Amino acid sequence: MSEKNSKQQVSTEEGGSSIGWQEQIGLSVKTPIGLLGFGITTMCFTLTILGLLGHVTGLIENHYAAIVTFLIFPSGMVFGLILIPVAWYLRRKKWFKNSLTSKNVILDFGKSTHRRGVILFLVLSIINLAVFSFVIYEAYHFTESDYFCGAVCHTVMDPEYTAYQRSPHAKVGCVSCHIGSGAEWYVKAKLSGLRQVKAVFDGKFSRPIPAPVEHLRPAQDTCEQCHWPEKFHGKKVKKFVSYSNEDQENPEIKEIALHIGGRNPLTDRFEGIHWHVSKDVKVEYESLNETRTKIGRIKVTKPSGVTEEYVVDGEEKSEPGTWRTMDCIDCHNRPTHVYDDLEEKIDFGLHSKKLDAKIPGLREDSIVVLRKEYGSREEAEEQLVETLLALQAQRNGDDFVAENEQALISSGKYLLDAYLANVWPAMNVTWGTYKGHNGHKNEESGYGCFRCHDEEHTTAYGKTISQSCDLCHDEPE
Ligand code: HEC
Ligand code: HEC
Ligand code: HEC
Ligand code: HEC
Ligand code: HEC
Repeated sequence: MSEKNSKQQVSTEEGGSSIGWQEQIGLSVKTPIGLLGFGITTMCFTLTILGLLGHVTGLIENHYAAIVTFLIFPSGMVFGLILIPVAWYLRRKKWFKNSLTSKNVILDFGKSTHRRGVILFLVLSIINLAVFSFVIYEAYHFTESDYFCGAVCHTVMDPEYTAYQRSPHAKVGCVSCHIGSGAEWYVKAKLSGLRQVKAVFDGKFSRPIPAPVEHLRPAQDTCEQCHWPEKFHGKKVKKFVSYSNEDQENPEIKEIALHIGGRNPLTDRFEGIHWHVSKDVKVEYESLNETRTKIGRIKVTKPSGVTEEYVVDGEEKSEPGTWRTMDCIDCHNRPTHVYDDLEEKIDFGLHSKKLDAKIPGLREDSIVVLRKEYGSREEAEEQLVETLLALQAQRNGDDFVAENEQALISSGKYLLDAYLANVWPAMNVTWGTYKGHNGHKNEESGYGCFRCHDEEHTTAYGKTISQSCDLCHDEPE
């Protein structure tokens, strides 16, 4: 009864009649903002449903369509839904001016129209919630997919994605190494992801993308979910085959047995290269530059709790660097984004007969062809094989090139594939941009084991970190 009374007291600008909440909503939706909200919601809702149907039935496989279905349409829906109460709120302000009071918003379950209104509201909300949960679930999976990480920002991530696809981790998701499990890291990653997406749109990202070690989650939570550092790998024999420009037919072969180690079940001692990551010791180091190629102090905490500190004479006074506890990534910094070494790639070509060793000067010319700076990947596709033919014509004469055209072209194709797998001029990624720490072939640029194993870092007692060749590998038996 009270509702009826208060209703009668109110006179609004809507022709002087009083209005209940249902009419209020009805009228609000008819305002421009209300109409906009209603329109956007309906449209985005329909499109989301269609997109989801397409996605679930497999009719739409385009990944851009997935971005639109999971991110853009649902956001539009939320935006539209928010506009409706906003419209109501703005409209109510006007009514309040005309002496409407909050008493007018009364639910009376005795009235069938009110009951129907509430039921309709509940049903619509449940449908909305259901669609939303489904969208969020699918969107979560989509933003965790390797495709989303690797190919959505195509130019930006193309180098990493390409290198990843040919690596031993090609079947391991980007997120297993870059995010790991747990909501906290998921949110962290998505926030930094949003910043990165913005950077891509602004064009303000670094080329090449810097290696992110300080933002990577500790290896215990990523690598060690699949690999077990205690595992005893013992020795592993590796064979290195190389040629020279002078002799491209007879390789020099070096075989080494790497002491990977682990916990030796015979002695129960943690030995070999993986000693650095055993649970018994902690190796910390101070890097003096961003690529971690210049190492200041090194601290080793032994099982007894004793800490040894290594310093390089005369460097004590230099600027303090960043400290880091050594983990897998300090050696395996290229576990999956593996780029080739230019000469190794050519030698592999000769070894696998994809480069024809019978062609005089092919190794030397290949180096020139691959080092050449092409304006873009497309330009390389057009010019690379031609460049090889031209060099060969200079060296061996036009007749030779004409006679051996087939062999030269197929060698050229091998070189082009090698180029396309390693060089992205638009991202400033070229041979040697990303180097590995797992060895010492790039020691001149400070990469690898010899950053520490240099016989120069010394403890107070004069102990150094050994560079003796048979510490890490010896001749295979
Ligand atoms: C096996 C683990 C692993 C997987 C899987 C992985 N990454 Fe990485 N990623 C790394 C490591 C380790 C680094 C380099 C860390 C360092 O040196 O600081 C890196 C570096 C990067 C960088 C920086 C540029 C560079 O090359 O250093 C980008 C970008 C990147 N990853 C993207 C991706 C994308 C996209 C995927 C999936 C397609 C992916 N990663 C999968 C481990 C992984
Ligand atoms: C989701 C599981 C998973 C994660 C996480 C993972 N790996 Fe692996 N890793 C694998 C698999 C699978 C292989 C391939 C094994 C094979 O083919 O024999 C592999 C192979 C390797 C190899 C041997 C490569 C070779 O040339 O044979 C190394 C080294 C390695 N992983 C290091 C790492 C490092 C470092 C990280 C962390 C940055 C890491 N892995 C994270 C599953 C994983
Ligand atoms: C001090 C450097 C160093 C650290 C730290 C390190 N590794 Fe290694 N690891 C190596 C080297 C060197 C090899 C042999 C590489 C090769 O086969 O070319 C190797 C080999 C491996 C292999 C392949 C073994 C095989 O039998 O083929 C796996 C898997 C691996 N490491 C995982 C890890 C994981 C996981 C961590 C962190 C817990 C780790 N490594 C830490 C240097 C390191
Ligand atoms: C951050 C510095 C650092 C880097 C980088 C590093 N090491 Fe070491 N390494 C040490 C220290 C410190 C010791 C312990 C020296 C000692 O106590 O005699 C050590 C010891 C070793 C040992 C002997 C372990 C044992 O059984 O006691 C091996 C083998 C080894 N390193 C191999 C490697 C290889 C291979 C690499 C490169 C893939 C490498 N290290 C990179 C710091 C480093
Ligand atoms: C701190 C550990 C360590 C020490 C000390 C060390 N090496 Fe190595 N060496 C490695 C690792 C790890 C690899 C494997 C690199 C790879 O798999 O690409 C390697 C690979 C090699 C190779 C084959 C790859 C190539 O570049 O041709 C040669 C040759 C070699 N080492 C020679 C030596 C000599 C000579 C010494 C002594 C002056 C020495 N190494 C000392 C860790 C070491």
